[in-house]
Amino acid sequence: MKILIIGSGGREHALAWKILQSPRLTKLYTTSTNASTLLLKEQYTDKVACPIKIAEQNITELVAFAVQEKIDLVIVGSEAPLAAGLSDALIKAHIRVFGPTQAAAQIEASKAFSKDFMARHHIPTARYQTFSELAPALNYVNTLNYPIVIKASGLAAGKGVYLPDSLAETETILQALLEQHSLGQAGNEVIIEERLIGEEVSLLAFTDGYSIKLMPPARDHKRLLDHNRGPNTGGMGAYAPALSICPPALQTELAQTILQTTIDGLRNENKLFIGVLYAGLMLTPAGPRVLEFNCRFGDPETQVLLALLDSDLIDIIEACVTGKLTDCPIHWKSASAVCVILASKGYPEKNETGFTITGLNKLNANKVAIFHAGTRWQEKNIINHGGRVLGITAWENNLADAIKIAYQQIEKIHFEGMQYRKDIGENKQ
Ligand code: AMP
Ligand code: GLY
Repeated sequence: MKILIIGSGGREHALAWKILQSPRLTKLYTTSTNASTLLLKEQYTDKVACPIKIAEQNITELVAFAVQEKIDLVIVGSEAPLAAGLSDALIKAHIRVFGPTQAAAQIEASKAFSKDFMARHHIPTARYQTFSELAPALNYVNTLNYPIVIKASGLAAGKGVYLPDSLAETETILQALLEQHSLGQAGNEVIIEERLIGEEVSLLAFTDGYSIKLMPPARDHKRLLDHNRGPNTGGMGAYAPALSICPPALQTELAQTILQTTIDGLRNENKLFIGVLYAGLMLTPAGPRVLEFNCRFGDPETQVLLALLDSDLIDIIEACVTGKLTDCPIHWKSASAVCVILASKGYPEKNETGFTITGLNKLNANKVAIFHAGTRWQEKNIINHGGRVLGITAWENNLADAIKIAYQQIEKIHFEGMQYRKDIGENKQ
């Protein structure tokens, strides 16, 4: 099977790594611009094509490439091409694609759509109001007597969520979004919602649009600094399964009340959703609440989830795109996995890049994988070239051992300004 993976982060490297373990793969193509593809090519030679140099937003060229190369299956890692209609265009060209259509991807691409959808289908979420004009938004926040969250409705690469501490800060944020258009179109509509308190968990499911198969619950650590301090980031690390937060009985309940209800609701609204549905949940004293939906694999959740997946990923994805997920058994290792992100100095504000990364070939553990995100080749060296640079992933029979191994590997890796959290895997978000 010829497979094309769209995207350039650690998530897509993990997808490529897992797909390459399948005997069904004949050739893997990726749009990744980081150092991972050539590393995979060194290991798997003929099975990996040179990176294709088409931007993930360039739908016309991606479809033309898939048709010309007779790609059997396209796997879309990131949300932007899904929101831009890549799946629709591939389906029109009779290419199989794992990832929802533009209409179904709205569940992530428009928080206004997503919140209204949840209200229509009685899916529990924070109380909210949507605004596109500054004056009514300012009036509204003046009437609230509880802490709030402000969210840009559109895609903002993890930068669209604000947790203001005062009314003055709230007003500044609303002005920036609605008047100065600080996030461009993404912030033309904003959601003002109640701030919730509780444990967070990422619950992802494979779906063929009808049935779902849950993945183990994962915990993402979103804040930059240890003990859940500092600004929000794309994710500084993850572990799975997060059983102490989300035990099996709760998983079964959430699968039904939230994920299956969402898939059924989307289908009933003529938005068949095929791919991975990701619910970002907060478990509050009043019950579970959806913070957000994503229409694709999480990053860095995917790195730990795929490390735990025992089944052939191609079989699962094929079952999803052919509507046969219920017939496809999925097996997970009874183990724990952790992924620690090594980030550039200055992340998430302003990355300092261009420094040589050393120690990548000194790893000495079996159950370890290094997933590249913001890296590049510079002659024979690999340099940092982005905010999140590497995801050091380890898996073992128990979480404590997985954490120990991941941090032991990190001691061997260095680049100037490298920063990472020391508490990934602890239950402190
Ligand atoms: P989102 O992109 O919507 O998942 O938001 C990013 C992060 O902001 C979440 O992982 C939470 O930590 C935080 N967050 C979002 N919405 C809320 C909320 N209603 N209450 C408290 N924290 C929130
Ligand atoms: N880990 C958060 C996300 O993938 O959106």
